[in-house]
Amino acid sequence: MSESFTFYIDGVPVEAAPGMTILDAAQAAGIWIPRLCWHEELEPFGGCRVCTVKMNGRSCAACTQPAEPESVVENDSVALREWRKALVELLFAEGNHFCMACEKSGSCELQALAYRLGIAAPRFEHRWQAREVDASHADVLIDRNRCILCARCVRASRDLDGKNVFGFTGRGPERRVAVNSDARLRDTDLDVSDRAVDICPVGAIIRKGVGFTVPIGARRYDGAPIGSDVESANDELESANEHTEGGAAATVRQEE
Ligand code: FES
Repeated sequence: MSESFTFYIDGVPVEAAPGMTILDAAQAAGIWIPRLCWHEELEPFGGCRVCTVKMNGRSCAACTQPAEPESVVENDSVALREWRKALVELLFAEGNHFCMACEKSGSCELQALAYRLGIAAPRFEHRWQAREVDASHADVLIDRNRCILCARCVRASRDLDGKNVFGFTGRGPERRVAVNSDARLRDTDLDVSDRAVDICPVGAIIRKGVGFTVPIGARRYDGAPIGSDVESANDELESANEHTEGGAAATVRQEE
């Protein structure tokens, strides 16, 4: 069996097994690297570049780049925070995101990331493109105005649901999520219980009739910023280590 190794994220030693990505190793160590297209149930895609870090001075996507022994990774620097901020701001400018009126508000990863990165007001000119809303399915709606092209639905439908309901069509600014039917969502074999329905990080694919089941103020990111679940796991780890080390030290002192 191959040996695990150590590398460094912002000076903190992190253990990794061969083949682990930087993001996976960081996650296991309680270090949060911002991300949008990554999802723990899916193969990494490397599409959004929000997880960009520098490994030994070279930019790479933390979700696809394998960790390397003794490598030095920069994650939480001013330059990288600014880079991620610009990327997220461009996503807002490129789509039509009206958070105040969106059912996903408070549970939306894009919105939560914008708050965490300190985005307060538009910096780039919005494109205000006309995008199609498909409400034809009895239980599920697609609002392409909110889509960030992360491909989570595409990968989940293919790899988790075994269906290929979603794909992409068009190029550049015209790129859109499409369904595997010439017509509408209702003509596909999408079921409301499909993983592809709930895996959308924004409000582009949503279940009908449940938008406000959880009230505003009680939603996932209303009480704690995005990434705090990963970081609090680290706090618990550190506190457990302190207790273990403290306990061990106390035992040694008693024995002395
Ligand atoms: Fe790594 Fe999107 S999370 S590229």
